[in-house]
Amino acid sequence: MQIEPAEYRQRREKLMSKIGNGTAIFRSAPTAVMHNDVEYIFRQDSDFYYLTGFNEAEAVAVFAPHHEEHNFVLFVQPKNPEKETWTGYLLGVEAAKEQLGADEVYPIDELDEKLPQYLQKAEKIYYHLGRDRQFNATILRHWQMLMRGYQKHGIGPMVLESTNTILHPLRQVKSPTEIEFIRHATAISAEAQNRAFAFSQPGRYEYEIQAEIEHTFRLKGAIGPAYPTIVASGVNSCILHYIENNRQLQDGDLLLIDAGCSYGYYNGDITRTFPVGGKFTTEQKIIYELVLDAQQQAIEQVKPGNPYNLFHDTAVRVLVEGLMELGLLVGDIEEIIEEEKYKPFYMHRTGHWLGLDVHDSGGYKYNEEDWYILQPGNILTVEPGIYIGPNIKPVEGQPEVPERWRGIGIRIEDDVLVTNSGNEVLTAAVPKSVAAMER
Ligand code: GLY
Ligand code: MN
Ligand code: MN
Repeated sequence: MQIEPAEYRQRREKLMSKIGNGTAIFRSAPTAVMHNDVEYIFRQDSDFYYLTGFNEAEAVAVFAPHHEEHNFVLFVQPKNPEKETWTGYLLGVEAAKEQLGADEVYPIDELDEKLPQYLQKAEKIYYHLGRDRQFNATILRHWQMLMRGYQKHGIGPMVLESTNTILHPLRQVKSPTEIEFIRHATAISAEAQNRAFAFSQPGRYEYEIQAEIEHTFRLKGAIGPAYPTIVASGVNSCILHYIENNRQLQDGDLLLIDAGCSYGYYNGDITRTFPVGGKFTTEQKIIYELVLDAQQQAIEQVKPGNPYNLFHDTAVRVLVEGLMELGLLVGDIEEIIEEEKYKPFYMHRTGHWLGLDVHDSGGYKYNEEDWYILQPGNILTVEPGIYIGPNIKPVEGQPEVPERWRGIGIRIEDDVLVTNSGNEVLTAAVPKSVAAMER
């Protein structure tokens, strides 16, 4: 499976049609030190990768549609046999020009010298300030220099704007090839979840289950986990991003597994919660059915034309109604929702965009009032939950939570593609009915 050069070209053309008389600059991800002189595994910046398919560090992409000769320019690390012996193959300037479709490619150490020609006639610089402060400073220095030029010559960029506004609306709608990648990432993630379910039983440790999951990821060609794998048993299930994964599973526990892999930098993100000993307790089952109902009703609201918030609002209403029936929330339902009095039980949103980033780019609102309208090609997670921590503190005026409900944490998460006619649950291969969760 691969993304063809023509698709990268199309993406760049779409971007350039939005740049006008500006120049856009994208930087590869910075490398990060793990300890001493050992680095973390390199993970390319998603914006940079989306536009170039180039997976090296120390690279810069420049888009200058107004420039007479070069609209797409790359700066890359030059070939360096000695360095390559230590840290691997580098594409180099010549091959980058041949293979990546750039009009011009320079060695990265010529950036200061070559960059100004692509900025001096631009009205605007598009650049998103990133984690690499030194590179931010480089761009700001060039901008400052060119503003002096504006005073003298009447031309040059007076505005600096984030690239998010022009690029992220594109990333929000996935192409057929991107959908295939995410399909593959979700299929591997689903297989890992099913393997974890089959393997889990009282006496195992959370990390053993994590190992089963991550074994499947790598075995099936994924890069690895898309985010730190969450294997949370018993009261740990009430911690949203629990990653210690070192507790021994007990009969009577719930086990919440939130795991997904990254395949070709596209991600899966699945959560299932089930009873370790094979049978839900009465209270666990009631809460599970409530979360499942909320999730299924929310998924029905994922369809083209619906505003983004509808599936979240739907999930919240179902959860609140259920918690009121159980006497865990009391009062007026509209007030509970409006004033978010349910938050001690449900403190996160019901989903997020999914793509090259797990929490993918792209806005959820057009402006203060209007939510994004779903369209075919959007991919998002639907992941309601209820978390009744052992020390849960209801908001003022709400009842104390009886002991028998405490320690129950449940989330159910699927990845959903918006289609022309509605949606497709990409992670449907992982069962979630009450019957399937018991054994
Ligand atoms: N695993 C991170 C999330 O569900 O958003
Ligand atoms: Mn998740
Ligand atoms: Mn998620």
